[in-house]
Amino acid sequence: MTWHAAISLELLRPDGVTGVEIEGVPVALYKLGEQVYATHGICTHALAFLADGFVEDGKIECPLHQGLFDIRSGKALCTPLTEDIKTYAVKVEDGTVFVDLD
Ligand code: FES
Repeated sequence: MTWHAAISLELLRPDGVTGVEIEGVPVALYKLGEQVYATHGICTHALAFLADGFVEDGKIECPLHQGLFDIRSGKALCTPLTEDIKTYAVKVEDGTVFVDLD
């Protein structure tokens, strides 16, 4: 595992999504309650940044065609999505969020 420092925990929107770039990879970070999750930052359907989407009930809604992904598993939940989104391991240490891109 290679952990990359991504952002300060306090900068994450509570129950929302925040976009970052790690090693040139767009990543969407989610703070759901006290847990932090990460997915690839771009929708699997077309070029839309999930950080511009809407979080509700553990799901991220893509801003372009309203496709839904499960934030925890990355599973595509409805049309027009046909492909799950990649998820990444996350840890928080000393107030910093780290992401493993592997
Ligand atoms: Fe995300 Fe179409 S670009 S649903």
